[in-house]
Amino acid sequence: MAKQVATNITWHEGHVDRAMRNKLLKQRGVTIWFTGLPSSGKSTIAFTLEHALVERGHLAYVLDGDNIRHGLNKNLGFSPEDRNENIRRIGEVAKLFADAGVLTCTSFISPYRADRDQARKIHAAAELPFIEVFVKASVDLCEQRDPKGLYKKARAGELKEFTGVSAPYEEPLQPEVVLDSGELSPQQAAGVVLDYLNTKGFLHA
Ligand code: ADX
Repeated sequence: MAKQVATNITWHEGHVDRAMRNKLLKQRGVTIWFTGLPSSGKSTIAFTLEHALVERGHLAYVLDGDNIRHGLNKNLGFSPEDRNENIRRIGEVAKLFADAGVLTCTSFISPYRADRDQARKIHAAAELPFIEVFVKASVDLCEQRDPKGLYKKARAGELKEFTGVSAPYEEPLQPEVVLDSGELSPQQAAGVVLDYLNTKGFLHA
């Protein structure tokens, strides 16, 4: 848990509340948290879902691991501590996006259960929905896909602490949605999440 360092800071409440923003956007903010092994298909599914939502008239946005590591989190690597900080920051950013009313899709390996649970906890404290989507695929399948050639590098010992090879991945115990990425196409997988959001009433203000 990150320690509070700054002192003498005071929370400043705005004049626009969540209900006003929801009315404006005709939707409620939510975080859809994709987790899974590298090459399991998280980002492909998250971006497909984002597109489907926007086509249906919703404001959706993807926070993607590789992309965020080019900017906000460019100073973090892949040690357990750095991954913890990576996920802590994204949990906070997703919470802000969801508070702003955006259908926020996050696509991070987020290999540690405790880190994901912490992201869930801060959403619950802010009364914002948090939907954990486990993109399930075996290491074998991910390794066969390996579009960036990272499993190959990891097996050759050229990449340390690589999730699935030399760093752990803790599967979610009670995810809201499980997507079998060996069985479903990205379109079908995005469709499953879309149906879930619709059925649970997340797509209406
Ligand atoms: S996380 O574990 O901290 O959640 P994150 O999703 O942000 O990881 O970043 C994972 C991406 O970084 C992978 O898609 C891959 O392209 C790249 N990457 C580079 N090195 C590693 C590594 N050692 N382990 C996992 N992914 C890595």
